[in-house]
Formats: sequence, structure tokens, C-alpha cells
Amino acid sequence: MAMYYFIEPMIEADIPQVQEIEAQSFSTPWSANTYRRELRNTSSCRYLVARVSATPPPRQNNGQRLRRNGLLSTLLAPFLPQEATPSEYALVGYGGVWLTVDDAHITTIAVDPRHRGRGVGELLLNGLIDAAFELQARMLTLEVRVSNLVAQRLYLKYGFQPGGTRPRYYTDNGEDALIMWTEAIAAPEYQDRLSTLRRRALSRLQAQANTAVTTHP
Ligand SMILES: CC(C)(COP(=O)(O)OP(=O)(O)OC[C@H]1O[C@@H](n2cnc3c(N)ncnc32)[C@H](O)[C@@H]1OP(=O)(O)O)[C@@H](O)C(=O)NCCC(=O)NCCS
Repeated sequence: MAMYYFIEPMIEADIPQVQEIEAQSFSTPWSANTYRRELRNTSSCRYLVARVSATPPPRQNNGQRLRRNGLLSTLLAPFLPQEATPSEYALVGYGGVWLTVDDAHITTIAVDPRHRGRGVGELLLNGLIDAAFELQARMLTLEVRVSNLVAQRLYLKYGFQPGGTRPRYYTDNGEDALIMWTEAIAAPEYQDRLSTLRRRALSRLQAQANTAVTTHP
């Protein structure tokens, strides 16, 4: 089956599916109320979901999704008001960002274990970087478990650098958090890096979708 991945804003109807992925990804999940509060805080929070479709999803007339090289992507699209109705496409990942003063903090990001390693985390991270731009953040920051080398590798790829630790930050096992920061996201060097990475990420998703179509018509 072909797999077309795309991202769009999270809505309240998505919360149960988000929580299913969260339960498989984190040991201290958020409550539905926490998600609702975050979604309603539109002045400083942005939450996205990644979805999968077996066929190229129909282009929306409102410009919420953009078609790029045959893929639907919201990577560079403006963040529009939330839709009220649940999507017909399966939810395979989610992520969020929160503006604190003038830095954007990645609060969460996770992909359904069955869809990991296919560029979905990278797609979501790109969407969160766009959201940080839209919130007029200077740079992005996050905390990650010192043992979570997979996530750290994704962040390093996108220019996040270690900037200290928070000892015993995670209450479930007392693990330290590594704090990571990007440089200024508006800096030409970061923009160059981002556009190269985006081109590669979109080509990878495109190639995957095409391969899947050929293999399983
Ligand atoms: C971290 C996570 C979101 C990555 O999502 P994903 O869709 O599997 O990642 P992608 O396929 O987009 O890969 C992007 C990059 O992540 C890193 N990565 C992904 N899987 C990896 C693996 N198994 N080993 C090492 N690096 C890996 C690589 O840098 C990769 O880029 P590359 O393909 O050019 O090497 C996913 O593993 C996840 O949901 N983990 C559990 C939740 C979590 O730990 N979230 C982070 C909290 S701070």
C-alpha cells in the first residue's frame, strides 16, 4: 500500500488517537484536559498531527495544505483555524511547540511505532519549526532524556546542540534531561541548512510513496 504522509493542525477530536500513540511512546502521558488546554492556548501553542493516506489526499480549497512535488504538506503553509470535524485519515504522529518569552519550546513529539523510521518525525519537526517562525520565536529549545539517542540524532540533524542538563528531570526513573538549542532560526546559516534538509526530507517521502505504489499497485 502506498503511504502518503502529511501534517495538519491538531484538533480536539484528535486527542484520543494522540493519547494512544503517547501511551506507546512515553511513560508519563498527559491527560486529555492538558491537551485541550494546550490546543485552546492559540496565542503561544501550536500542535500538529501527522496522518497517512493510501492515495494522495485531496487538495483542500482553503489552502491549508500545499501540494509539493506530488505530496501534500503543510510545511510552509500558514497555520489556519482548527477544523471541527475528525479527519478520515489515520493519525500516525503528533508534536507541539510552546512559546516562552521569545523561544519556542518543543513540548512533545512522537510517532506511532509502526510508522517510525519513514520520515514522519522529521516531517513533524519541520512543521514545528514553521510554527515557531509563525510565533516569531528566536530559537527552538527542548529537553530530551539523556538515554534517548534516536530523538537526539533527529534534533542534531536539525541543528539542535546540547546546552546543559537538568538533573533528575524525569520523575518516573530520575533520569537527567539533556537541554538542546538551535541557533537563531532566522539566521541565514540556519535557513540554508533547513532548506537543504527539507528538500531531502520531501524527496525521501516522495520516493517512499512512489516505491510503495509500484510494489503494491
Ligand atoms: C523520535 C521519533 C519522534 C522519531 O520519529 P521517526 O519518524 O521514527 O524519525 P524519522 O524517520 O523522521 O527519522 C528522522 C531522523 O531521526 C533519527 N532516527 C530515527 N530513527 C532512528 C534510529 N532507529 N536510530 C538512530 N537515529 C534514528 C535520524 O537522525 C533520522 O534521520 P536519518 O534518517 O537521516 O538518519 C520517534 O522515534 C518516536 O516517536 N520516539 C518515541 C517518542 C520520543 O522519544 N520522542 C522524543 C521526546 S524528546
